Amino acid sequence: MVQNLKHKNKKIKIAIIGGGYDSTISKTHLRSILATNKFTIICGCFSRNRNKNVKNSDFYKIPLNKVYSSIDELIKREKENIELAVVLTPPHNRNKIYYKLAKNKIGIISEKPFEANISEAKKIYEFLKKRKTFFVSTYNYLGYPAIIELKQAIRKIGKVRNFILEMPQQSSILKSTNIKKWRKKDIGVPNLHLDLASHLVSIMIYIFNQIPQKVLGFENKNQKYKYVDNCYAWLKFKKFNGQIWFSKNAAGNKNELSIKIFGTKGGLKWKHSSPEEILFNDGVGHSFKIDRLNPKTKYLKISDLFTYSPGHPSGFLDAFINIYEQIFNIYRFKKSKYPIFLDLKQNLDIISVINSIHLSSKKNIWQKVQSKIGR
Ligand SMILES: NC(=O)c1ccc[n+]([C@@H]2O[C@H](COP(=O)([O-])OP(=O)(O)OC[C@H]3O[C@@H](n4cnc5c(N)ncnc54)[C@H](O)[C@@H]3O)[C@@H](O)[C@H]2O)c1
Repeated sequence: MVQNLKHKNKKIKIAIIGGGYDSTISKTHLRSILATNKFTIICGCFSRNRNKNVKNSDFYKIPLNKVYSSIDELIKREKENIELAVVLTPPHNRNKIYYKLAKNKIGIISEKPFEANISEAKKIYEFLKKRKTFFVSTYNYLGYPAIIELKQAIRKIGKVRNFILEMPQQSSILKSTNIKKWRKKDIGVPNLHLDLASHLVSIMIYIFNQIPQKVLGFENKNQKYKYVDNCYAWLKFKKFNGQIWFSKNAAGNKNELSIKIFGTKGGLKWKHSSPEEILFNDGVGHSFKIDRLNPKTKYLKISDLFTYSPGHPSGFLDAFINIYEQIFNIYRFKKSKYPIFLDLKQNLDIISVINSIHLSSKKNIWQKVQSKIGR
């Protein structure tokens, strides 16, 4: 019994694929992995460029002989030494990496989104499902305690009637931004959708536990680079409607993510600039703040989910730490302590919804969202 618990509390041995020192999101993963004290980074294949790849020995503080020049080599030499691999490459052709890992019984932690291409996403979904591969994705906003709380608080507003989710940014017009080459070329579903809409759709699926029946998208291309950098979409659900706006061409907006949900008995609002509170309007004119000091909350009051006490704001990194804490629980104890994750099917649904938004925009019609894949 004691022996068994000892094993269950053992750190999880992981490999990192992609996520070199030059990646935009690698430092956040590295810091949150280390903050949990529940993982050991054994090895990695961080870049296809040899010079860049080896520099990651220093970044991740692992020996040079644990930096592999290919994923095949990494799997061949390390498959007995690792339990999970964190996939931090751009979303295109992720399926090939998933195949290799799953065939070798290595579980997967993947950065969002699941895959860039819908038909590849469907195939790899079936493959991972059949093999029962361990799979979690890091949709980091689902690690914010207030967003976890929002899923509960939805009951306060009666029946949902409509919602607006927004994620405006400004990188495509900001002169100082160094945009990576792959982000300037759209192949199929625009990178804007893979980057930003996937977050909004993850929040939508998380809170409502359903996907829209049809969508109407309206995209704008960047004049200089010819990639899509602004999009509006209307979403028609069975019993309510919603609207999302996501943009990298919204001057002055530094990731002003916001959630507004309106129901028959009131409304709820959350914004990224005040991440620890939800605003509740009861529908007869009263407004209340739901925050960490409110004893009636289910999740916001739990200190486990924060780095320190109220008045010492938590944010992006803390949300990521929450995600890695729960990855440990799911992998070792088969159960997340808090509801933070979408399942494999929901990860595929996100690709299906953003693909439909893109098709709708291209064809200028309402587009049905396929929802029966693999069910
Ligand atoms: N959760 C978030 O808030 C968030 C923020 C930024 C990026 N992301 C996601 O993270 C992923 C990576 O984005 P990024 O901005 O870090 O990209 P990036 O281009 O900045 O970095 C990608 C890294 O992967 C490496 N790489 C690429 N292909 C590889 C391969 N085949 N084998 C090994 N290494 C490879 C590159 O060398 C680089 O180090 C994307 O899916 C993106 O959507 C998520």
